[in-house]
Amino acid sequence: MNIFKSDSAKILVVDNNLYSRTQMLDLLSLDGYQVVETDGNSDIITQVVRNNPDLVLLDVMMPYTDGFEVCKHIKQDRRTCLTRIILTGVSDDRKSRLRCIESGGDDLLVKPLDRLLLSARVRSIIEQKRLYEGLDQTEQLLFSIATAIESRSCDRRHSFAELISLAKSFGEYLELSKEDIKNLVYAAYLHDIGTVAVPDSVLLKKGKLTDSERETIEKHVLVGEKICQPLKGRGILPIIRHHHERWDGSGYPDSLKGNEIPWLAQIFQILDIYEALISERPYKKPLTPTEALDILAEEAAKGWRNSKLVGKFTAFINASQIVSEVGMR
Ligand SMILES: [Fe+2]
Repeated sequence: MNIFKSDSAKILVVDNNLYSRTQMLDLLSLDGYQVVETDGNSDIITQVVRNNPDLVLLDVMMPYTDGFEVCKHIKQDRRTCLTRIILTGVSDDRKSRLRCIESGGDDLLVKPLDRLLLSARVRSIIEQKRLYEGLDQTEQLLFSIATAIESRSCDRRHSFAELISLAKSFGEYLELSKEDIKNLVYAAYLHDIGTVAVPDSVLLKKGKLTDSERETIEKHVLVGEKICQPLKGRGILPIIRHHHERWDGSGYPDSLKGNEIPWLAQIFQILDIYEALISERPYKKPLTPTEALDILAEEAAKGWRNSKLVGKFTAFINASQIVSEVGMR
């Protein structure tokens, strides 16, 4: 089941190096995309306007220009501002990631490109674009705010892409309805939008939080629910409000117990925790899937999570790993 079609997307590859261009063209064509390429020596904005691609793969190191600056111009031009951009470069260190965010880039990949990673990122970004194009104006505004908030901490290395992909595939595994999967995907964007009300000094604090700081952070679920009121017909508000409840009633904001916690909120919190554990953060290394699953199992044993659901999620991740290992052979 593909709820967001990514077929027939057009990609413009901008790279001065012929070998890199050819490699990307071959890989992307294999995935069924329509690919156009340029060496970046002529005006890139003109090329983007002429070709109207869904996505540009843009090298940051070009002889006459800086890819980050070009990215900024594409994003600032009203004719091309909705074009998605993946920057490609030799490093994805903190400075480069900051520049990527500042220039409006959607992602930054390191060359030589990993075939599976490129394929997954491109698919995910095209799907996000299709999702965005299907939103009404209010929804687009909320998604834009959520994206801006998320990039504030330079924390999520791959923005929402991993969480969205996890939400879709686990939703399909559980045979959820199309509408429920859509709600999980919306939640991936919007669940922490309420952190807009949390000052940076609290949100990004490295040390232990005071009681009042913890209270401020915990309010993000209520603020988020309020901000997203225009979406109340969609079934996403219960996920935003309840994604920090715990199975034994020790969570917030309503101390709901067991199946009082809305089903999609139970599912979403497991996805959110797992994704945070396996992701790299400025202050921590990523855990392996096995380590992350162990932590979820510990949380279930403590009574914080629905242990049956954690069991299903564990089976799902283990099955996905077997599939991807077979795919790499
Ligand atoms: Fe949250």
